[in-house]
This record gives sequence, structure tokens and C-alpha cells, in this order.
Amino acid sequence: MTARASAYRLLQGALRSRRAVDDSFDEAVTALEPRDRAFVRLLVATCLRRLGQIDDILKRFVTDPPPPAEDALRIGATQALFLDTPVHAAVSTTVELVKRKGQDRLVGLVNAVMRKVAGDGKAVLADQDEARLNTPAWLLDRWTAAFGDAAARAIAGAHLFEPPLDLTTKTDDMPVAGATRLPTGTWRLATGGRIEDIAGFKEGAWWIQDAAAALPAKILLGALGGDRRVIDLCAAPGGKTAQLAAAGCKVTAIDLSKPRMALLKDNLKRLDLPAETVVADVKNWKPPTLVDGVLLDAPCSATGTIRRHPDLPYIKRAEDFARFPEIQSALLANAATMVKPGGVLVYSVCALEPAEGEGVIDAFLAANPTWRRRKIAPGVIGDQSEFLTANGDLRTLPSMWAEHGGLDGFYAALLTRAD
Ligand SMILES: C[S@@+](CC[C@H](N)C(=O)[O-])C[C@H]1O[C@@H](n2cnc3c(N)ncnc32)[C@H](O)[C@@H]1O
Repeated sequence: MTARASAYRLLQGALRSRRAVDDSFDEAVTALEPRDRAFVRLLVATCLRRLGQIDDILKRFVTDPPPPAEDALRIGATQALFLDTPVHAAVSTTVELVKRKGQDRLVGLVNAVMRKVAGDGKAVLADQDEARLNTPAWLLDRWTAAFGDAAARAIAGAHLFEPPLDLTTKTDDMPVAGATRLPTGTWRLATGGRIEDIAGFKEGAWWIQDAAAALPAKILLGALGGDRRVIDLCAAPGGKTAQLAAAGCKVTAIDLSKPRMALLKDNLKRLDLPAETVVADVKNWKPPTLVDGVLLDAPCSATGTIRRHPDLPYIKRAEDFARFPEIQSALLANAATMVKPGGVLVYSVCALEPAEGEGVIDAFLAANPTWRRRKIAPGVIGDQSEFLTANGDLRTLPSMWAEHGGLDGFYAALLTRAD
């Protein structure tokens, strides 16, 4: 299968069957060389990031194309409009794609539309409203309600670009030539390549973790007393477990998913970091003894990670999000029973939805008067006060840190048990 045919298959899976690109990627690219795999990833991601603009241009040249032609044209238009593929190559590979799919009857249509897109499409780009076109209205409306029009547009704008690769290191050493250190301590590489080929992978010197995803564990570490026994809830694949273990904590990591826990164990093995692991449901699991610190990185809508997962707006619906606050509240209620009097709990989600962040915390505090919100100290997050809300919670948005290349959207609250 050619790279474009793999990209076509992944795009179809996301748009027509709501299948996550990450879940089907390995299977779709097995026959390809590493360089072609990287091209497939870029092609599909760019197509999904710019889908609204691409469809807006296609509809100027064709009305209701059959699905196979529409998806092939989307792959072709992505190359012609956004990846600087020469016109003749963008046209001929798209025609080839429909032929390979046994859709010879569509060759004439695809050829004619691709010529128009490649010829006249770029001129249209300048006048398009990128934020509105490339974000499903139900999502943009939610962000506008939560953060205001300008911030919602800035969030949408941040999703248009490939994110950098962020690494957390076991020690302070630079993990690899060319990495830059962000104010919060994360190391950043402009481009990825094959993860296994980056220096220090085999030696377990670092693990991949977005700069924002590294903050909840830093917040817990900054609030811990002398007792370094901690429980990491919803822990797999283990980015935060590794941070806590590398900082010298005695960690118990809990996750419901056996396969994801196996991944966590593999990751800790590569990193040579210790942790006790338990496969269990955080809604009702109880520790043998109460601990000083608990981190709950709850399952969520993951809308803060769209720049890394541009398929998310197309594989999720608004209704899919509605169930999260109830689940998160149930997990938080049980997590709180694991903490000693005077101990601390960090709740985090990679969701932009306030209902999954502040909403869950405000409801918990209203129902549990022995618990208090503690303001997060700017010092534990590299003095990045712009990440803190008036309440002292963490709220990063993908539009922040534009000068560094952005970061994922995350929410975290630091709570303390009074008695
Ligand atoms: C956001 S991910 C965690 C990421 C992880 N903390 C890290 O830093 O690498 C959420 C995790 O919650 C787990 N999960 C979902 N529901 C759960 C439950 N009821 N009990 C335990 N784990 C659960 C999922 O299997 C998933 O691994």
C-alpha cells in the first residue's frame, strides 16, 4: 500500500467510523518505510487540522462527491494547499489513489477537481476564517462560552500547527543535542522523528510528556511534607508515576486497564524506576494505609490535547462529554478517602471543559467541608503565573506559550485535608 493509500484509509476510519488515528496507525503503515510513515502521519494530521478549509475549497468546485472521491480529494487538496506538493504530483497521486480503490468511474471527476484546487485553491486560503472553519461549531461554541471569543479563536488557531516533542528527563542533563529547556523544566525538540532513534531512549534517560502534562506531579511534589509515600490514580501509561518515582517517592500506581498497566510497567522498566502497580477500579479501591499525597489524573474528554490528536473533534460528539463530570466526581470522592489528615490531593484533567475541572472541584468542596483548596505556588511551575486562575488552580490553554510553541490544555487543583 502506498503512503497516500494508508493516509486515505486512516482518514476514512476517523471521519466515517469515528476510529482514532492512533488506534489504526500501526496496522495502516506496516508495509511502509519509516520515512513514508512519518509522511502519512503528517498528511493525515494536516488534513484533519485543516479539514474545514479544505472542504470549503472543495465545495466551490464540486457538489456532493461520492465518499471515496471526497476523501481522496481531501488527501490530494492537503498536499496541494498545505504541504507544497508540486501540482502535477498532487493531481496524479490522487487520481492513482481512486484507481487503486477500484473507483475508475471517479477518475475524470477527481482529475478535474484536483486541477482546479491546485490551480485556484491557494488564492482562497487568505480570505478563510481558519478558526471557525476548522473547528466544529459545537466545540468552538463551548470554548467561547468558557473563555470568551478571542481566547476560543486563539485555542482553535493553536490546533493548526504540528506540536513540538516534549521530554521529561530523569536528571537535569540535556537529553539530546538541540533540545531547549522550557521555564517549567521540560525539554523540547522542534521535530520528532522515530522516538526509538532519539539519543537516550534505550538508556531510559527520558520519557515523552507534554510540558503541561508534567505540571500536576510537580504540584504534588511541591506540596508534599516529609512523607514521600504517594498514590498515583489512573496512572497508565505512567508519565506522572515516573516523575514521582524519579523524585524519590514510594509510589503505588493504580489503573483499571490491564493492557495500559502493562505499558506503564514496560515504561518504568526502560526508565529503571520503581513503583508498586495495582490493576483496580479507583471508584472503590482502598489502600492498606492512608498516605500523605494522592494524584488523580482522571479520564476526561481530552480536549486539551487536540493539537496532538486532531481527529478528536471528528471522533467525539458533544454527548460523549456529558458523562465525564459524574465519573470524575466518583473517582475524586474515593481518592479523597485515601489521604491522611493534613495530606494533599492533586486532581488533574487534560480537558478544556470547566465542567470537568472547576465544576468537579467546586462540587467536591461544597460537599466535603473538611477539604480546602490550596493555591498552587507559582514557584513549583517555574513561576508561570499566567497558568494560574484567580482561585490558584492550574489552567493551561493550547494558545498559551505561543513564543515557545504552545502546550497542551490542562487543569489541576491542589486540595488539602484539614482533619
Ligand atoms: C488521562 S489517562 C492517565 C494518564 C497517566 N496519568 C499518565 O500521566 O501517563 C486516564 C487513565 O485512567 C484510567 N481509568 C479510567 N477509569 C478508571 C477507573 N475507574 N479506575 C482506574 N483507572 C481508570 C484509564 O485506563 C487511563 O489509563
